[in-house]
Amino acid sequence: MPPKNKSETGSNALWGGRFEAGPDALMERINASIAFDKRLYAQDIAGSMAHAAMLVKQGIVSAEDGDAIRGGLETVLEEIESGRFEFKASLEDIHMNVEARLAELIGPAAGRLHTARSRNDQAVTDFRLWIRDAIDRLDRGLRAFQAVLIERAEAEADTIMPGFTHLQTAQPVTLGHHLLAYVEMMGRDRGRLADCRRRLNECPLGAAALAGTAFPIDREATASALHFDRPTANSLDSVSARDFAMEALAAGTILAVHLSRLADELVIWTSAQFRFVALSDAFSTGSSIMPQKRNPDAAELVRGKAGRVLGAFNGLVVMMKGLPLAYAKDMQEDKEPVFDAFETLELSVGAMRGMIADMTVNRDAMCAAAGSGFSTATDLADWLVRSLDLPFREAHHVTGRIVRAAEEAGCDLADLPLEAMQAMEPRITTAVYDVLGVENSVASRTSFGGTAPDNVRAAATAARDKYL
Ligand code: ARG
Repeated sequence: MPPKNKSETGSNALWGGRFEAGPDALMERINASIAFDKRLYAQDIAGSMAHAAMLVKQGIVSAEDGDAIRGGLETVLEEIESGRFEFKASLEDIHMNVEARLAELIGPAAGRLHTARSRNDQAVTDFRLWIRDAIDRLDRGLRAFQAVLIERAEAEADTIMPGFTHLQTAQPVTLGHHLLAYVEMMGRDRGRLADCRRRLNECPLGAAALAGTAFPIDREATASALHFDRPTANSLDSVSARDFAMEALAAGTILAVHLSRLADELVIWTSAQFRFVALSDAFSTGSSIMPQKRNPDAAELVRGKAGRVLGAFNGLVVMMKGLPLAYAKDMQEDKEPVFDAFETLELSVGAMRGMIADMTVNRDAMCAAAGSGFSTATDLADWLVRSLDLPFREAHHVTGRIVRAAEEAGCDLADLPLEAMQAMEPRITTAVYDVLGVENSVASRTSFGGTAPDNVRAAATAARDKYL
């Protein structure tokens, strides 16, 4: 056995009553969460204020002690926010750091704050409050991102680009339409986060350790003071549930996946082979060896960070799996992935907004690419159906043979001579050329949700009404 390496501080002042000796230094290190849960300080103090006010109102704590507690907590808050507070690992977590400092400031009255409360309900209350704030911040970021996407979509309603399936040219679309696709995704992401917020907005405070309390507390009062919709219904569930955090990270993971797809498109579009868009200097980096390089690092990082957010979700879910009710210390591991994922998501959304707001669109390159790769072949097949009454399957077959003829002639469909087409289907007339141009192709896609420029303008207006 290695020699014991004792912590400096002796037995814990807040729970050490039955302990003779203090913890091993390694015990202190593995046990302490203050390095990360200090981020909950504002929520912790707000929760304590609400709890103390309720204890006074219910006659459980005197008005004098209640005033002392409130005044002391205000001082603690001020000390933390001004950077003067000394966080101590020997005091484990944010809850005990705040309470110990309160005791230094106001004396024995501080000991009354923890009446009818446990760190189990306190920690989870703080955590719900933190996630609620984080969801609200992320929602504001997403809304601002949607605003930029809608604005750019309107400006690019007539910009024609190739639409892809399998990353092979499929049919011409408009860039405005493409950008509005992400507005819809971000809208659903905001909806998932809002659903999560609605379900998490119940207050666990007053569940105490796990069984509730014998003190005549008023849980409605603390719930409403902290702007929760209601108290949680079951004390065991209150201290052991973390599905609100899993749900937040599940929604966050889907959002990160959506962002990674647009990020990947920016990586492709900015390549020398595509040149569809150029990112601004503000959102590009250079190479230390290759002077010509202009790298889309921010887009690549957004793409990469999706893995990190999924990792946070995965870690949290696996940590929770199989835990018996009610609280277990494993659950202290719930916070870091959530903090990291939300920080990552806020940063990613902001960077995507910046890149899209600043990017320069190369309309000529997009339009030229849209016209190549026989992108109007479907328009030709549709024309054969409409004008010659061919069944679609047969029209598809005839079009395929015309495409092969164009391929052999080394030209696009619009440049193939009429005789070459008539060799495949004698009834084809010059009217067919009207549908072979990419402008006509996109203008014809007027079905609801389609890519026609007028549709895109109407969809941008509708999206502005719906989301902004
Ligand atoms: N820091 C702890 C956590 O985040 C607080 C709860 C501790 N409760 C306990 N019974 N030891 O989970």
